[in-house]
Parts: sequence; structure tokens; C-alpha cells
Amino acid sequence: MFRSSMIRRLTLTVLAPAVAAVLLVPATLCADAASDAFFTTKVWPIIDKNCTSCHGADKQKGKLRLDSRAGWIKGGEDGKILVEGDPDKSDVIAAIKYMAKDEDDNMPPKKKTRLTSDQVAIISDWIKQGLPWADAK
Ligand code: HEC
Repeated sequence: MFRSSMIRRLTLTVLAPAVAAVLLVPATLCADAASDAFFTTKVWPIIDKNCTSCHGADKQKGKLRLDSRAGWIKGGEDGKILVEGDPDKSDVIAAIKYMAKDEDDNMPPKKKTRLTSDQVAIISDWIKQGLPWADAK
């Protein structure tokens, strides 16, 4: 009797939190690693190939830089370009879908260089995830 309650208490106070920690820590690390990989392998190549020539270190068209997370969050001369976590309310998504209110705002400006629907979906997912940005790029 005494023994079994000791064991039960031991299980609850020591083992349960230990088990929870062992289960939770790798799950968190995995989520970070997965979103880093998503950014590095899927998102960044699209931005780098299609946007940074005009919105990077050399040129900042529309006073906008897209080569850092801070640049995406800050926006350009007309203000914010997105709502974190909400691609449907993000002007930049309308722009790359070629559905901007003013067609001059569609991006990239040359229609023949516009993104594919798969690429738009990746940028949209990325905004939905809160723009995870990995430094290794
Ligand atoms: C060939 C150059 C060029 C490329 C490539 C380009 N842009 Fe632009 N972008 C511009 C110019 C020029 C403006 C300013 C337009 C204006 O002021 O009317 C602009 C403005 C913008 C704006 C509005 C900024 C503001 O506040 O006024 C957004 C958002 C934008 N670009 C996103 C993108 C994205 C995303 C990409 C890549 C998919 C991209 N652009 C690629 C030239 C480019």
C-alpha cells in the first residue's frame, strides 16, 4: 500500500514531466527545422530569383527591400505590404497573383516574368506561417 502510493507519486512528480519534456522538446526543434528548411529550399529561391534584383542591396524600387524579413515586415513607400499570418489580406499576394487594384502594382512588373501559381502558393503559405526566416541562405 505504502509502496504503491510512493510509486504513483514518483510517477506523477518525476516521470510525467520528464516524459513530457522528452516528447515536447524535439517536436519544437523539428518545427523550427522544418520551417527553416521550407524557407531555405522553397521560399528564398523564389524571392532571390524574382524580386531581389529590384528590391535588394543594389536597388530598392518603391523603397522596398525584400532581402530580409525586416524588409518584408516594414514594407515600401506606400506602407505595409502584408498582414503577418493572413495572406488574403496581404497586398503583396494580390500583386504576385496579378490581381492588384492598380495593375501597375502587379509584381514582378513584366507579365511574362510573373510567378507560377505554385510559387504564389509557397509565398502565401510562408506569410500564413508568419514569415519564418532562416539565416542560412
Ligand atoms: C524589374 C524590377 C522589379 C522586380 C523584379 C520586382 N519589382 Fe516590385 N516594384 C518595382 C517597382 C518599379 C516598384 C514601384 C512601383 C510604383 O511605385 O508604382 C515596385 C513596387 C513593389 C511593391 C509596392 C511597394 C510600395 O510600398 O509601393 C511591392 C509589394 C513589390 N514591388 C513586390 C515585389 C515582389 C514580391 C517581387 C518579386 C516577386 C517584385 N516586387 C519584383 C520593380 C520590381
